[in-house]
Amino acid sequence: MVVYTPPMGWNTWNTFGLQINEKLILESARTMIDSGLRDAGYEYIVLDDGWSLPHRDENGRLVADPEKFPRGIGALADDLHAMGLKLGIYSCAGLMTCGGFPGSNSYEFEDAQTFASWKVDFLKYDYCYKPQHERGDQLYQRMAMALNNSGRDILLSACSWGADETEKWIRSTGAGCWRSTVDIVDSWESIKALAKRQRGLMGCNAIGCFNDMDMLVTGMNGNGNVGLAGCTDTQYKTHFALWAFLASTLMIGCDIRNMSEETARILKNPGLIAINQDRACRQPFSVGGSFNFACGDDEDSFVWARLLDGGDLAIGMFNLSDHPRNLYFTLNDLALPRFCGRKLELTDVWTGEVCQVGEGLHMAKVDGGDCRVYRAKLIRA
Ligand code: GLA
Repeated sequence: MVVYTPPMGWNTWNTFGLQINEKLILESARTMIDSGLRDAGYEYIVLDDGWSLPHRDENGRLVADPEKFPRGIGALADDLHAMGLKLGIYSCAGLMTCGGFPGSNSYEFEDAQTFASWKVDFLKYDYCYKPQHERGDQLYQRMAMALNNSGRDILLSACSWGADETEKWIRSTGAGCWRSTVDIVDSWESIKALAKRQRGLMGCNAIGCFNDMDMLVTGMNGNGNVGLAGCTDTQYKTHFALWAFLASTLMIGCDIRNMSEETARILKNPGLIAINQDRACRQPFSVGGSFNFACGDDEDSFVWARLLDGGDLAIGMFNLSDHPRNLYFTLNDLALPRFCGRKLELTDVWTGEVCQVGEGLHMAKVDGGDCRVYRAKLIRA
């Protein structure tokens, strides 16, 4: 299976941990539709750890916990498919999942067959309890081969947290996305740390296998399994903008059944989703910095651009510091010096405001924790 754009969906882990069940999944699926999230592009509903019984059956097969999923996974997949959604499930390349349930290590072909028979569409594949003598690349490769030979298109979402220099081998394995970060928690510190770590990995992200910066915490407000301090809506907005701009997978992690209007507005922002899903998936590059602080990227402010399919540009200015900064980009850094006879028309993806940049630089005062993201058109100067 070839993956052409970053996968989008909702995953149970951030809010519900191991406490998942069919009712929760169906309610969340219904919300995906009623809230417009499905129509905005979110299609996978992923059951993370905790869906199975702690032991395989007498034939060595994985079994769904009958108390949590009384009708089994296949019936749930049918329901989701009828709603225009897809079902994701979770297993592990090691002997056990991180939550202590059976892993798929040395059962790869059997489990891929089971998932295919349940009409699963997506497998998140973790890295806990990996035998030391086994190679990560081979474990992901074996599961990818098993899925590719299962008779069903099942996207392999690798989750080895960047361990063992995952970025050096993951694209050879057949995974369709890979966790390029450690686990997220619901705090601004965590969001900042993951975004900074991503700067060195932007060149790994391309069609076929996308960087996965971990599930979104937007809208968690400190509640649930990885709930911590929580963030302000501005920080959640910047978090979403960063993940979208960097073409990460977009997996919602809050309880969407109770999300606020502001959370829904952030998660459905059409301009950012279009940038995230841009078919070219070109690498971002640095085009400016913080005017009163430093030249070029510094620790806490990033100003990046991406060339989009069809000729437009995406330009993002991110202020991860706690204080307002004057962030800028220059036309020279965009390879558009004055003599080339073109200027930019910027549309702010949050406000819809339009402005032009004729020469030199564009500067905006961006509050601490806030961002600006523009879609830019080239027009005659
Ligand atoms: C690991 C993964 C998380 C989640 C848990 C489940 O920590 O990185 O995303 O899947 O395991 O136990």
